[in-house]
Amino acid sequence: MSYNVAIDGPAGAGKSTIAKRIAKEKGYIYVDTGAMYRAMAVYLLRRGIAPDDREGIEQACEGADISIEYRDGEQVVLLNGENVNPLLRTEEVGNMASASSVVPLVREKLVRLQQQLGKRADVVMDGRDIGTVVLPDADVKVYLTASPRTRAKRRYLELQQKGVTADLGKIQADIEERDYRDMHRETSPLKQAEGAVLVDSSDMTIEQVVERILSLCK
Ligand code: DC
Repeated sequence: MSYNVAIDGPAGAGKSTIAKRIAKEKGYIYVDTGAMYRAMAVYLLRRGIAPDDREGIEQACEGADISIEYRDGEQVVLLNGENVNPLLRTEEVGNMASASSVVPLVREKLVRLQQQLGKRADVVMDGRDIGTVVLPDADVKVYLTASPRTRAKRRYLELQQKGVTADLGKIQADIEERDYRDMHRETSPLKQAEGAVLVDSSDMTIEQVVERILSLCK
């Protein structure tokens, strides 16, 4: 039986940083499910489909074959065989992923793939619905969060380091809007799964969060 660690939480809580560290420490595979929704978004954008065109998304999503591979320990997302990793981290793709991930057909397709990965290997998987829907029987479930202010400040510092000027108030407002959307959507809303341990990283270092989660693992 494979060992599964599920980490859910709102945008900017540090899920991917923490999940990658846990995976490395334990020798498990890190599965970034947000990247799969982003790859689907790339496919839809290329076909000129608007984020609010639900019917268009439903019709088009069947044509997207999304799979993942690991190259030098990094997750590579393949969209109809093409490595789309370099295209995933733009605002446009993030917004399309947020909009198209509410469509049940899109979710069914990607959840199936994620469940297969969890069955096949020891994984640390992060997302919004991992402990609730994808891997409800995961060995360890964590709901990782931080206050909107803390998450906004982290994002602000990240942008500053890249030399990008940003407005802290605007970042916080965007984060709160995205939280609302993720937590109130009809299909698989973001919430703390039954049996999930709540970790609020607002006043914790990365190291402390990693230690806390490792202490929950076998
Ligand atoms: O974590 P991220 O920013 O890469 O996720 C992109 C979008 O995909 C996000 O708006 C919510 C959605 N998503 C989801 O609905 N379910 C998941 N398991 C992961 C991401």
